Amino acid sequence: MEKATFKSSIGTFAAVAGSVVGLGNIWRFPYLAGENGGFAFLIVYLVVSLLVSLPVMLSEFAIGRSQRSNAMRSFKQISSGPWFLVGFLGVASAYIIDSFYMVVGGWSLEFLRKSVMNEFAGQTSEQIAEGFNSYVANGVGPVAWAEISLCLATIIIILGVSKGIEKMNKIMMPTLVCILVILVINSIFFLPNSQAGIDFLFHPDFSKITFKTLLTAIGQSFFSLSLGMGAMLTYASYIQEKEHLPNTAFRVMIFDSTIALLSGLAIFPAVFSFGIDPSSGPHLLFLTMPNIFQQIIGGRFLSIIFFLFVFMAAITSQISLLEVVTAYASEELKIKRWKAALGLFFTMSITGSICALSQSDLGLFVINGHTMFDIFDYASSNYMMPIGGLLIVIFAGYVMPERILHSQLTNNGTQRPLPFYYMVIRFLIRFVSPVFISLMFLNLIGII
Ligand code: PHE
Repeated sequence: MEKATFKSSIGTFAAVAGSVVGLGNIWRFPYLAGENGGFAFLIVYLVVSLLVSLPVMLSEFAIGRSQRSNAMRSFKQISSGPWFLVGFLGVASAYIIDSFYMVVGGWSLEFLRKSVMNEFAGQTSEQIAEGFNSYVANGVGPVAWAEISLCLATIIIILGVSKGIEKMNKIMMPTLVCILVILVINSIFFLPNSQAGIDFLFHPDFSKITFKTLLTAIGQSFFSLSLGMGAMLTYASYIQEKEHLPNTAFRVMIFDSTIALLSGLAIFPAVFSFGIDPSSGPHLLFLTMPNIFQQIIGGRFLSIIFFLFVFMAAITSQISLLEVVTAYASEELKIKRWKAALGLFFTMSITGSICALSQSDLGLFVINGHTMFDIFDYASSNYMMPIGGLLIVIFAGYVMPERILHSQLTNNGTQRPLPFYYMVIRFLIRFVSPVFISLMFLNLIGII
């Protein structure tokens, strides 16, 4: 069976961009930037993305495109040792992340519905907060919407790599950018006192930059660029030989940071304009924003396009997660893609529901006071992704034959845009990236 590919450069870019742009850009980055020195954080973020994260992305790209296989088998084909376990860890991480990501995808659908039906109209901020809390606590709604979100993702996966994933991202990514631009223009030009929000995001405070900030920036950049769990590797297995991988990776990184900044510019001027305390995470999107839309002219329309934006960002990431597991299941079990996707639909329905119900007031699936949703989130972003990322760069830098890395990153020696360019990338992969990821991990487990 011939291996599926993305058909065009634009489609390749859109698909990879669809994976990286997600909730990380919208609900975490702007807040982290505001809290950690504004413009100063932005600089640190860009530097670590370039020096620490980009090498991981390029390693995943090189492994995936050279082997044209799923995350686990790609490692197996290159090395007979236990390295396939790194791929397996990636598949497991993708499964786990997708299980809670689909729940948030579902929330955004419910909020889209509420906006369309104008259900926020006339509600006070207490009522909006109460609405969100009781929705989550009830459990039935979140499960139902998570299933719908999963169902949509499964349909795209079944439609295929080019006709499903590539095509959908080619439509969704430009739409998402257009919506975001409208939201930013509205926030900056039409809301009173928007300058306070812009200041929060950009005030350059270099005194806030500490070792800890550096590590926070690495963690955020990792999550935001979908690294360390096989998503980039799996998508790379569909990238054509003619594409220049470093070029694609660099552009995706810039795009991802731009969307994160624009999200901040859409959200924080509005937050400050209404004198609300900035926060991060679900509260920002599902409590603060509806509250604000409620108070501004054209709020219903803005609320609709805002939740459409959140949903599109979430579903395109969700699809890339699902694809990691689908590619693995269909290739390893030697079954058709649609059968693998359907099988996953059933198992993931269960794990997704567990995540959704763990937040309900039924008190199910809570371990030591931590919901399954939080445990999955915490374990994957703090442990599985950094460990996966670290092992991936070590594999690409020391275990994989160097000719593979060289031919993948230079298109067989034909593309070298800058002098020493390949040497620099290889140096980053072998030395810089592993050291910084290790530091981040050691800090997390409390050793340094
Ligand atoms: N990068 C996505 C975001 O910013 C999350 C994600 C992580 C998606 C890992 C795929 C794989 O939200």
